[in-house]
Amino acid sequence: MDDSTDASTKLTRRRFVGTSAALGSIAAAAPLLTEQAEAAVNTEPGTEQAVTLTINGRRQTVPVDNRTSLLDLLRERIHLTGAKKGCNQGACGACTILLDGRRVNSCLTLAVMHEGAEITTIEGLADGDRLHPLQQAFIDHDGFQCGYCTSGQILSGVACIEEGHTGSRAEIREWMSGNICRCGAYTNIVTAIEQTAGGR
Ligand code: FES
Ligand code: FES
Repeated sequence: MDDSTDASTKLTRRRFVGTSAALGSIAAAAPLLTEQAEAAVNTEPGTEQAVTLTINGRRQTVPVDNRTSLLDLLRERIHLTGAKKGCNQGACGACTILLDGRRVNSCLTLAVMHEGAEITTIEGLADGDRLHPLQQAFIDHDGFQCGYCTSGQILSGVACIEEGHTGSRAEIREWMSGNICRCGAYTNIVTAIEQTAGGR
């Protein structure tokens, strides 16, 4: 790296990975860092950095502490509380959102890693007053009880359908296994996904 570069912006892959791992914040499902993205992230803990994201079709720039998870940015800074913080460690799927069309656990990835990304949360899934077909199917088939897991289940289900992992109920169960429902609504969740996939 050029010596003239500001020391606070200097970065190596080792430092980045070390810092992120220490924070427990690398998402297994998140895209690998590109060199460009790597160079844009300041890894000095506690540094505030602006990140620009398109969230539910609206482009916004938010200054955040570089240790902020994508989930905390959505919930605490943008006030989109549909994505839930269940475990905050990648075990429950309640925080699932779509990141550039892929489902990710937003609790496990840092907001500043996703400069320029497109994000869809449950708040952006409907088309105005018209629910997404999977949202309607969850209602039709009682795919929820308390509702805490539901936004994550629906976003994950949308991706599951897009990925084509709906060949059988067993396949749906397998590819939805990262989303836990403490109320045990699994049978109806699978039915909702099965019906929606079949209606495409
Ligand atoms: Fe993210 Fe549980 S809150 S996986
Ligand atoms: Fe209650 Fe799934 S509906 S946790």
